[in-house]
Amino acid sequence: MTIKIAVVGSINMDLVTSVKKVPIAGETVMGENFATMPGGKGANQAVAAARLGAEVSMIGCLGSDYLGDGLLEVLKKEGIRTEAVKRVEGSSGTASIILSEGDNRIIVVPGANHEMTPQWIEENRKVIEDSDLLLVQLEIPLNCVQKALEIGKAANVITILNPAPMTKLPAEIIQLADYITPNEHEYQTLSEEFPIAELSSKLIITMGDEGVLFYEEGKEVRIPAFNVPVVDTTGAGDTFNGALGVAICEQLGLKEAIRFANRAAALSITQIGAQNGMPTKKMIRQFFE
Ligand code: RIB
Ligand code: NA
Repeated sequence: MTIKIAVVGSINMDLVTSVKKVPIAGETVMGENFATMPGGKGANQAVAAARLGAEVSMIGCLGSDYLGDGLLEVLKKEGIRTEAVKRVEGSSGTASIILSEGDNRIIVVPGANHEMTPQWIEENRKVIEDSDLLLVQLEIPLNCVQKALEIGKAANVITILNPAPMTKLPAEIIQLADYITPNEHEYQTLSEEFPIAELSSKLIITMGDEGVLFYEEGKEVRIPAFNVPVVDTTGAGDTFNGALGVAICEQLGLKEAIRFANRAAALSITQIGAQNGMPTKKMIRQFFE
């Protein structure tokens, strides 16, 4: 049985510059490398799930520029359904990423991603309703996130909210999500707004090389991360979410699902670029067994 996943989210072109020393205001430095690479949290999660064998449909918005052409091609090449990807006048989303000494600094300009409307999601509600699981993040307007979750919930679709990048969330969005997957910083913000008792049963907190924390019958459980040589952590969280979605649909049990997602995320950071390094199931098997 093929697993069906819908992703409602952003599609960006990542403009990745590697440099030894990040310039300060007024300074010019020579960089080492530049590349344009497909990204955006929505598209990344879609690609992660597709490589792991899911039938993935993307609901999103691209600009009318050449970046949009390229990004649409990438999704198609990954076997992702793009009927619900709308082209709008203007620029596609971009993320300017500076890689320096193992850290990344990212500026996201949403462009077309912020042209998405609840009506567009309504028009494509069948894409969500026909899926086993829905993945959403926060690089699109919040009313779209909420609309997607409402449709998913009403159709008994499992919903994962990756609250990234973090912003103030209405309680309805929290309630509509079956799983919420913040990193430590996002969790910090979330826990200031919502009582832990309300969140804990759906929380899966990713903590980079410190692994993942979740709650089993109210008790904290920590799943360690895998040690791999780090090349670029951009998109590790997205790989985790895409893989988690697949594993949850396969009914592995939450602990096993998290372990599987950890493996996928570990492999993803061994290559530069958000989507490079995202593994197939075969690659996970070869590397970890
Ligand atoms: O999560 C990583 C992604 O965040 C990058 O691909 C970039 O596009 C930003 O949206
Ligand atoms: Na990568």
